[in-house]
Amino acid sequence: MIKILLSGCFGRMGKAVIDAASESDGRFTVISGTDITVGESSFPVYNDIHLVNEKPDVIIDFSHHTALPAIMDYALNNNVPAVIATTGHTEAEHRIMKDASEKIPVFFSRNMSLGVNLLLSLCKKASEVLKSDFDVEIIEKHHHNKLDAPSGTALMLADAISDTRKNFMDAKTEYVYDRHTERRKRSPEEIGIHSVRGGNIIGEHEVIFAGKDEVITLSHSASSRELFATGALRASEFIVTQKPGLYNMDDLLNNII
Ligand SMILES: NC(=O)c1ccc[n+]([C@@H]2O[C@H](COP(=O)([O-])OP(=O)(O)OC[C@H]3O[C@@H](n4cnc5c(N)ncnc54)[C@H](O)[C@@H]3O)[C@@H](O)[C@H]2O)c1
Repeated sequence: MIKILLSGCFGRMGKAVIDAASESDGRFTVISGTDITVGESSFPVYNDIHLVNEKPDVIIDFSHHTALPAIMDYALNNNVPAVIATTGHTEAEHRIMKDASEKIPVFFSRNMSLGVNLLLSLCKKASEVLKSDFDVEIIEKHHHNKLDAPSGTALMLADAISDTRKNFMDAKTEYVYDRHTERRKRSPEEIGIHSVRGGNIIGEHEVIFAGKDEVITLSHSASSRELFATGALRASEFIVTQKPGLYNMDDLLNNII
């Protein structure tokens, strides 16, 4: 049984992880949680991770990016692997995660879904084949409570395409989030990233490769938060057996295949 310390336990994803763990036939159990709000739970919840008394096998974090330094500090002091599923980190927070991963195993993915990670590899393939002849635009849609924009997944897709482009484009890819401030023609180096917020949309991502005479659209739609929770549990099962390092969904998928 894998014992979980759940960061952000009262949030939407926190609840999804609790449900997924309780349906895992005892493979996972949440033994403690952290949150800055109050709520009811069947395990002890702390408003400061350093006060946690129980000894977890792994931390799963679905909270807020500002929680990251304290989580990494706790993980290093207690030698506990961490699955970071929160999005919207600053560069400085990413550096903290990277530095910590030299001493403990850290799993980070802006999207814990298997399907989205397949979309990612299809986008890399499409970019390799279509090269700079096709303009790339990404549209993401999420519920009206989402705090960060664009979504971490949209950035993950853009980063993957941008990396592939280094093989055939000299100019650096530029992410364009807003076109209303400047009147100028679109350049081939751009990737347009657009965010739609409304209702209770769980998460939709559409990547458009628009060429002279044809358009290819690759898309993924999530219909339940459960898939992210299940992915986080699989990631925690994987990370508890790893050496220190920074791991992502590719590592998990390669381990499954
Ligand atoms: N990687 C993925 O696949 C994936 C999927 C869904 C959501 N997310 C990300 O997970 C995060 C949480 O999403 P959500 O929809 O559950 O949000 P939410 O707002 O419903 O829940 C976040 C919870 O974290 C708590 N929190 C805030 N700051 C905290 C801190 N410093 N310490 C502990 N708890 C804190 C909040 O009180 C809240 O209960 C977001 O960053 C979201 O983008 C990632």
